[in-house]
Amino acid sequence: MNEPTFNSSSPGLGDLAPDFEAQTTHGMIRFSEWQEGRWVILFSHPADFTPVCTTEFVEFCHSQEFMDAKGVALLGCSVDSIYSHIAWVRDIEEKHGVKVGFPVIADLDQAVSRKFGMISEPTSATAPVRSVFFIDGSGVIRAVISYPPEVGRSFLEIRRVIEALQLVDEKGVACPANWQSGESVIVPPPKTTEEAERRMEDPSVEATDWYLARKKIED
Ligand code: BEZ
Repeated sequence: MNEPTFNSSSPGLGDLAPDFEAQTTHGMIRFSEWQEGRWVILFSHPADFTPVCTTEFVEFCHSQEFMDAKGVALLGCSVDSIYSHIAWVRDIEEKHGVKVGFPVIADLDQAVSRKFGMISEPTSATAPVRSVFFIDGSGVIRAVISYPPEVGRSFLEIRRVIEALQLVDEKGVACPANWQSGESVIVPPPKTTEEAERRMEDPSVEATDWYLARKKIED
């Protein structure tokens, strides 16, 4: 690995996802049009026909039903050619008994990977790392996770982040450490001393302290 340097080129949380046009296994897409107001998980993998990436693609396929239920579209990306993608997708479907129902970008010139900071030069100047961009229906990047080539992603965590982000938006709450779907959530802390006083007596929340209170989410 090279000497670490500061790199500010990746879009961050709260930024609009950069728009792009790209060739995919489902044809040419312009991201902003293809998105159609859906949540998107845009993810990169280092290379087709590699073992860890193959296990991840199988897991993305196993996650498809969950993603459909949450209104999330999957979009893969690597710097391999469209022919390599087609051959790999067919191989995965044949050997692993899954359907790769999402498009995969053939980012041969690294244009998309570089726009999203998926290429981390100290790791590799030619292959993307394992990035996951969680993009909401307005095109805003809401979370990013990044793993090195040698470590496959946690699909429990990817699903957990989607559930947490959508709950945060829907209910105006926050999710504590290790939160799992169905567990109590954090209510926003009071903003006045009077509210802080009332919080400790509020029967609708479990207040550990005036600034740390949880509540159950009713279905
Ligand atoms: C893999 O997917 O197995 C892999 C890809 C690039 C580097 C190391 C591992």
